[in-house]
Amino acid sequence: MPRKLAAGNWKMNGLRANLTEIHTLAERHAEASVDILICPPTTLIHACNGVLFDIGGQDCHTETGGAHTGDISAQMLADAGANYVITGHSERRADHGETDVIVAAKSTAAHEAGLTAVICIGETLDERESGATLEVIDTQLAGSIPDQTTAQNTVIAYEPVWAIGTGKVPTLDQIGEVHSHIRARLSERFADSADIRLLYGGSVKGSNAADIFAVANVDGALVGGASLKADDFSPIITALENS
Ligand code: 13P
Repeated sequence: MPRKLAAGNWKMNGLRANLTEIHTLAERHAEASVDILICPPTTLIHACNGVLFDIGGQDCHTETGGAHTGDISAQMLADAGANYVITGHSERRADHGETDVIVAAKSTAAHEAGLTAVICIGETLDERESGATLEVIDTQLAGSIPDQTTAQNTVIAYEPVWAIGTGKVPTLDQIGEVHSHIRARLSERFADSADIRLLYGGSVKGSNAADIFAVANVDGALVGGASLKADDFSPIITALENS
């Protein structure tokens, strides 16, 4: 069984004043039996040095450096103190036109910089309603997950786009179906597929976390809104520890 992971994605939220939430979490969960990861905005990564859990970026460029105004390389994230980076989040795919090819290249850049990539995949509502979910997942897995993937350098987050920030959550059967499908597909490509952590993301809260964590092949969560406050994220971490 892979070690479980509770990951928070702060998205474009968080000023220095909000670092108290991270310090509170670190104090409360100093003895956690699961891994904890916070991905704050890039501006706060360096200020998180010394925090006793993992810190990640939310995106990186495909290259290590060069004329790319405003972009951040994986190497820069590592230099700032990160050890993870999210790649292929649906908000990046939608807002910045990131294709599977770009996501795979960013994930490779993350690996080369020594970061663990949290590669996100998931269907839109239209795709779900037209019965194309598993086909979409297959295409994204084939295109976004690089060949050098291992259980050490990669985490996969299944985030149905329609569940993100909406309060709508798939049924437990739907989550289980997609997660077991992902596990089966990974086993066709990677020798250590059983140890690759599969996170569910999309409207995870303290009130639904325990049920979601009881689903087979769910090794943790990637949490947006409910990761911003220690009081909201703590019960999710506790539910994962108890799962
Ligand atoms: P919410 O938890 O706010 O739905 O966001 C999920 C997400 O996008 C995490 O990456």
